[in-house]
Amino acid sequence: MKTILPADLSHRDRHQLLLSGVAPRPIAFVGSVDVHGVANLSPYSFFNAFASNPPIVALGPAIAAKTGQTKDTWRNIMDTGECTISMVSYAMVQQMNVAAAPYPADVDEFNKAGFSKAASQLVQAPYVAESPYAMECRLMQNIELRRDIGGNGNLMLLEVVAFHVSESVIVDGMVDPGKMDLVGRMGYNHYTRTTDRFQTSQPTVPSIGVDALPDHIRSSDILTGNDLGRLAAVAVIPSLDGSFPDFDVAYRADSVSIELASGNPMGALYAMLQQGQQHDRALRHHIARAFLQQNDVESAWQTLLLE
Ligand SMILES: Cc1cc2nc3c(=O)[nH]c(=O)nc-3n(C[C@H](O)[C@H](O)[C@H](O)COP(=O)(O)O)c2cc1C
Repeated sequence: MKTILPADLSHRDRHQLLLSGVAPRPIAFVGSVDVHGVANLSPYSFFNAFASNPPIVALGPAIAAKTGQTKDTWRNIMDTGECTISMVSYAMVQQMNVAAAPYPADVDEFNKAGFSKAASQLVQAPYVAESPYAMECRLMQNIELRRDIGGNGNLMLLEVVAFHVSESVIVDGMVDPGKMDLVGRMGYNHYTRTTDRFQTSQPTVPSIGVDALPDHIRSSDILTGNDLGRLAAVAVIPSLDGSFPDFDVAYRADSVSIELASGNPMGALYAMLQQGQQHDRALRHHIARAFLQQNDVESAWQTLLLE
């Protein structure tokens, strides 16, 4: 591992190193109005949610390290105590980029970037009508980050006072991540699109943990860290279920390798047992792994317990 101390880097390198690691970051497309009523719209990826009761998000508008100039967004929120945050979908990303250009304060980036204004209900600032999800926010607190040593950051804590969610992204009463199609910001000029998703449920009771897995599982050359994590997220180590596996007399399968290649761990298990290979640990680990890839943790455990 290369160890790098922030003080040894230029401002630019420090900025990019931080952003490359703290990634991907959601993008807040911040709508605000100045004291003269001119609307402003700019993207901010120093952004996240920190509480849900009440809903609190935070935003990090920087002060330009070279010029000392503050962002219009920061000035507007400090002056009016309000803003909107529209989330950025893939369909919006190139127009969003246009809004990030350093326009003078009297330029309305909704117009420059070609987005329509949707009227907010509780704050003056409009939000982006093309966004599938937007929030109306009130400033709770601005924290200047180490201005005593020349720090150029701000942390704006904002309370969400209204949500707007497009009907088009709601499926069965829930916000559908595929329909949202949000993008995230990474280091340098990299972005990510949220099309490659997976689900893992968080354990609600203490699980056994990787350290409690039997040695022959924990030291496997075949099972990965993710596999061990799935196996370890059970409340107790399962015991061998005498009725596992329960194959119908008519059940047929090809060889272990063919069944594994076609994504059928149950068939592979059948073939293994037919060939009397249940004492082949590597084979059992391969089959257990295939069960885990299908989120069938119980069958994976039972396969491993056939030791
Ligand atoms: C995706 C993206 C994320 C950005 N995130 C931030 C950020 O978190 N903080 C910041 O100060 N500038 C950020 N910027 C740069 C500002 O958007 C840019 O300086 C903009 O001109 C500020 O506009 P304003 O002065 O109207 O607020 C980001 C730019 C892009 C494209």
